[in-house]
Amino acid sequence: MSAMLDQLRTDGFAAVAAVDESLLSELRSEADWLVRRFADEGYRSDDYWFFNAAGAGEPVLYRVHNLENQGSTPITRLYAEGPLHTLAKEILGTRGHATACAMIVKMPGLAARVPWHRDRTSVTAHTMFNLSLFLDDSVLENGCLEFVPGSHLLPDDADVAQTCERGPVQPVPAAAGDVLAHDVRVVHGSRTNTSTAYRRSIVIEFAPVGLVLTGRDG
Ligand code: NI
Repeated sequence: MSAMLDQLRTDGFAAVAAVDESLLSELRSEADWLVRRFADEGYRSDDYWFFNAAGAGEPVLYRVHNLENQGSTPITRLYAEGPLHTLAKEILGTRGHATACAMIVKMPGLAARVPWHRDRTSVTAHTMFNLSLFLDDSVLENGCLEFVPGSHLLPDDADVAQTCERGPVQPVPAAAGDVLAHDVRVVHGSRTNTSTAYRRSIVIEFAPVGLVLTGRDG
């Protein structure tokens, strides 16, 4: 754990195995249902983000926002308590709470790249973190997360495109059940999914209790 915390401070990201098989399988079932609801049952809401891909025929789901409000127990519970909260407390070094939750869906063969960005720059480094719990193995071919190590320490107004050009850029594969934690300030993105495998993750943002947030800026 301390090696993980060291890497998180230095690089701005680190991975750790965090969830057992039974919880993972419950979460995967819920995720299957959420995707089916959109793809097979035609369910639509402002929380289901999709795009129309050329030649795809059907809308391509890429994000379910406000995931904790979608009425599915294992995910609601994950947002409220449990292993990610335990991990977040260690990372934050203080009592924290979950401030946002989404599922990222990278559809096989269809998912677009996520452009390089920083989630927030309105907080200092080492303050707020996103924890991505992978429901599927995440590899380069299905668009694993990629980071510019140390970029969480750059000034608020650092040029994201230049930062990536300068590099280095580090893809970070993860196994299903792993959590990849990243500082909200670190520069990151992901590629298209060129494989036949899904890449789904549940992302929960954590902040120390008492921190006043001024909205999402990236
Ligand atoms: Ni992000």
